[in-house]
Amino acid sequence: MAWAMDGDFDRWAMLAALEWQAELGAVEAIGPEPVDRFESTKAEREAKAARAKAPAKGAPPPPVKAVEVDAVAVAKAAAKGAATLEELAAVQEAFEHCDLKRGARNFVFADGDPRARVMVIGEAPGQEEDREGKPFVGRSGQLLDRMFAAIGLSRQAPDAGAALYITNVVPWRPPQNRDPEPGELAMMRPFVERHIALVDPELIVLMGNPACRALIGRAGITRLRGRWHELGERPVMPMFHPSYLLRRPENKKHAWADLLTIKARLEGMG
Ligand code: URA
Repeated sequence: MAWAMDGDFDRWAMLAALEWQAELGAVEAIGPEPVDRFESTKAEREAKAARAKAPAKGAPPPPVKAVEVDAVAVAKAAAKGAATLEELAAVQEAFEHCDLKRGARNFVFADGDPRARVMVIGEAPGQEEDREGKPFVGRSGQLLDRMFAAIGLSRQAPDAGAALYITNVVPWRPPQNRDPEPGELAMMRPFVERHIALVDPELIVLMGNPACRALIGRAGITRLRGRWHELGERPVMPMFHPSYLLRRPENKKHAWADLLTIKARLEGMG
C-alpha cells in the first residue's frame, strides 16, 4: 500500500496509521512502483539456460560428428613429400587410413637393388612375407626368383645390370590372403607411383590382376600379358602371378615367353 506523504499527516498520526495496518495483518511495506515477483532475474535466466544445455548427470555424451577423410588425398600428399626411398617407406608405414595395417604383423616395403633396370610389382604380402617383412619370400617368391634367374636377373645380384627390385602395391597382408579391395588399391597407388619415380627403372613387370588394376587401370591378365603397356613413358609387362603358375603349371610356357620378351627389350635398350 502506498502512503500519500502530504502535510495532513503528522508523525504521530503516521505511526497510529502504521499500527492500525499492522493490526489488520499487513506484514510488508509496498513501494510506489509495482514489482513482478514471478519474473526471474537475468542471472537466474542465464543459469537456467546453461542447465538446459548441459547434459544430465549420467547421460551419455553427445555423439561426436565423424570427420570424412579423403584417404587418397592424404596418401598423395604424403607420397609427394618423400624425396628418398627411406622417406617414402617412413611416410607409407605411418599412413593410418588403410585398415589392413591393423591386421598385419609387418610393413613390407621392398627387396632387391633400387639401381635395378627392372622393377617387379606384385599384389600384397602373404603369410611368410608378413612374418619376415620382405616381399615374395614364400613359395610364389621362390618361383619368381627362379623365373628371373632364367633371364639373368636376381634380387641378390651385386651388379646393378643383373639386379632386380621387388615390391607390392599393398604393403600389408590382407586377412586370409584375400584380394586387396579397390579402395585399398586406390589409396596405395600414390605410394607405388612415387616408389616407381624414385627407383626410376627402365621397365616394370606387373604380377597378376590386382597390380594391373592398380597401375594400368585394367584387369584380365590372360589378355593383358605378353604385350607391352605403358605407365607414363615406361614400358610395362603384365605377367601371370607366380602363385597362379603354382596352381596352373601348364601356363608356365606363357610366363617363359613373357620373360624372353623382357630380356629382348632390355637387350634392345642397351
Ligand atoms: N604375392 C604377392 O603378390 N606378393 C608377395 O609379396 C607375396 C605373394
